[in-house]
Amino acid sequence: MTALSVRVLGWYDQHGRKDLPWRQHHDPYRIWVSEIMLQQTQVVTVIPYYQRFVAQFPTVQALATAPVDEVLHLWTGLGYYARGRNLHATAKILVDDYHGEFPREIERVCQLPGIGRSTAGAILAFAFGQRHPILDGNVKRILTRYHRLTGWPGRRSVEQQLWELAEQHTPNTRIADYTQAVMDLGATICRRVAPRCEACPLRKQCAAYRCGDPRAFPTPAPRRDKPAKAVSMVMIRNTDGVLLERRPATGIWGGLWGFPECAPGADIRATIKARYGMIVKPEPCWDSIRHSFTHFHLHITPVPAQLVINGSGIMETADLVWYNPLHPDERGLAAPVKSLLKKLSRSYGA
Ligand code: ADE
Repeated sequence: MTALSVRVLGWYDQHGRKDLPWRQHHDPYRIWVSEIMLQQTQVVTVIPYYQRFVAQFPTVQALATAPVDEVLHLWTGLGYYARGRNLHATAKILVDDYHGEFPREIERVCQLPGIGRSTAGAILAFAFGQRHPILDGNVKRILTRYHRLTGWPGRRSVEQQLWELAEQHTPNTRIADYTQAVMDLGATICRRVAPRCEACPLRKQCAAYRCGDPRAFPTPAPRRDKPAKAVSMVMIRNTDGVLLERRPATGIWGGLWGFPECAPGADIRATIKARYGMIVKPEPCWDSIRHSFTHFHLHITPVPAQLVINGSGIMETADLVWYNPLHPDERGLAAPVKSLLKKLSRSYGA
């Protein structure tokens, strides 16, 4: 055991989170679901989503046989929807190729959609007590500070050094506790912006703390400003509801439902007529909304429009519906679409 692992485990015994719902049992299915939700999302946000998810899909078989729309519906608001689609795809693989059992070999686990080396290690540690290092954002932060390791962890050589350090510090006993402990220490003490070094069990050994510059680690990515994109979302209303279209499976909000979109400044009447054969009467735009993704900002201009003539008699299809905002149903909606529908429902109620 290294000094780091001894101290981290001692800290966990006193301060670690032992009441997290996914730590109350060793069911690999539930552990896997929780670890996927916890990628890029904080514990407090995940808990209610996790509970609804496992209540609706208590087994991998239940998840594998559910329509993907139902899965994405439960994911609405959690973000990074590829995670939900990958979870569903993996459930099918587990049922078809593994008799519904979670594989125990890390190489096989890493082959499953949406599961990288760190997530695979965490699942196998929690579910089966196997010893594997993990290297999520929390652990990268702790290790770069503790060792005062410079260089952006997105660089392959830096990541390689971090995996080696993670491996060295991983103990041979209490692997599940240690895995939870480093995640908790990173989330609650070794925080990115405001580290609470005064409460840290590693303070005396931490090289960055001793030099007085923990906030300088990890070295940030080379700076590149995020580009901004803009789009108009056309909210076409008729008496039954508002037109929603299923988005393509790839790209932002893949597979979720949204409003028809137009390029900013495009002629909305002409675009909608050409695309759907409908004559619409656009109304004044609503205030625009800014939605940020990892790689760009999206400026959304919502444009309400009244359906005047449904020229080609467009019927509902698998990818097009008249959605009644007063009677929301179970489908995955992009987050800003959900809030726009809420706002629209007030005008339907009026
Ligand atoms: N982040 C990823 N996995 C986690 C877990 N099991 N507990 C807390 N935060 C996490």
